[in-house]
Amino acid sequence: MEETVRHIRNRAQDELALVADMRSLQELRVKYLGKKGELTGLLKSLGNIPPEERREAGLLVNDAKAWFEEQLASAEESLKFAEKDRLAAARRIDVTLPGFSITSGRRHPINAVLDEISAIFVSLGFSVEEGPEVEDDYHNFEALNIPPEHPARDMQDTFYVAGAETGANRLLRTHTSPVQVRVMEQRRPPIRIIAPGKVYRCDSDQTHTPMFHQVEGLLVDKNISMADLKGILEAFLHTIFGPNTPVRLRPSFFPFTEPSAEVDIGCVICGGAGCGVCKRTGWLEILGAGMVNPRVFEMAGYDPEVYTGFAFGLGVERIAMLKYGIDDLRLFFENDIRFLGQF
Ligand code: DAH
Repeated sequence: MEETVRHIRNRAQDELALVADMRSLQELRVKYLGKKGELTGLLKSLGNIPPEERREAGLLVNDAKAWFEEQLASAEESLKFAEKDRLAAARRIDVTLPGFSITSGRRHPINAVLDEISAIFVSLGFSVEEGPEVEDDYHNFEALNIPPEHPARDMQDTFYVAGAETGANRLLRTHTSPVQVRVMEQRRPPIRIIAPGKVYRCDSDQTHTPMFHQVEGLLVDKNISMADLKGILEAFLHTIFGPNTPVRLRPSFFPFTEPSAEVDIGCVICGGAGCGVCKRTGWLEILGAGMVNPRVFEMAGYDPEVYTGFAFGLGVERIAMLKYGIDDLRLFFENDIRFLGQF
C-alpha cells in the first residue's frame, strides 16, 4: 500500500506541475479526489486488506488526500494571480503609441469671408439686416427702378417661382438690393445697414454659379455725398486687401443709383503691372455703388429733397477668390474637403 500511495503522489505532483488553467486543475481534482478518483478508490478498497494493516493504510491514504488538496489549493491560488496579471497586462496603456487625431470641421471659406466683411462694416457703425431669398417682382425690380424691359428680368437670368398665374409674381432674388427697399419701407433715416446673403441667377460656368453671395450696403441721412461713399468703401477695401491698395471709382450705370460707379482696386495679383487676372489693366472690378436714385427714395416714401444716401453691392465669392488666389468659382460649392480643408 505504501508503495502504491507514493506512486500516486508522485504522479499527481508531476501532473499538477503541468497544469496551466483552472479547467485542467479541476480535471486533476476529479481524477484523484472525485467520486471515482484514484485516492477515493484506494480508500474504498481498504475493506479488502487485512484488518491489522487497515489502520496504517487508512492513515497513509488520508494523508495523501489532505496533501493533494493542499497542493490543489495553492496551485489554484497561483493560477488566480497569474490570471489577474494577464488581465492587467491586457489593459495596460502604452503611452508611447501615437494618438488618434481628431479631424475637426471648420467654417466654409465663403462664410469666413462673409463674417469678415460684416465685422468690418459693423465696426463702421452699420447693422446687419436680412431679407427673403424668395422675393417678389416689386422688391427685386420695380421698387429699384428696374424697368420691365430690363435684361435682368429675362427668364434667362432670373429664376421665377411657379405660380405666376395666381399673381404671386415670386422669384429667387437676383441680388441683395431688395433688402434696401424692405428696410426703407419699415424705417426712417438715418439708415446705415448691410445685408449679406444668397442670391440666384440662371447662369453657370467657370465664373458664374446659379447661387452666390452678395453684401448690400445702404446709408441714408441728410447731406450724404459721394465723398462719404468713397471714404467708407476705401476704409473697407483697405481693411480687406491691405492699407496700400489703390482704389478708384469709374462712372457706371445702375437703375437704382444716380450717379453710379464701378469700384476698382489695384490688382492684388500683379500689383498693377498687368496680368491674366486683371486682363493686363492693373485694376480689378470689385463692386458696384452709387448715390441712391431719387426715384427709389420716392417709391419708398422718403423725400429726396431732404435725404440723400449711397448704396453698394459686392460679390463675396469674387473677394474670396482674390483673397485666396482661387481661379474657379465652382470649387466653393463642390464641397470637396481636400479643397475646403485648406482654409
Ligand atoms: N445689385 C447690383 C448687382 O447685383 C449690385 C449693386 C450695384 C448694388 C450698385 C448696389 C449698387 O446697391 O448701388 O449687380
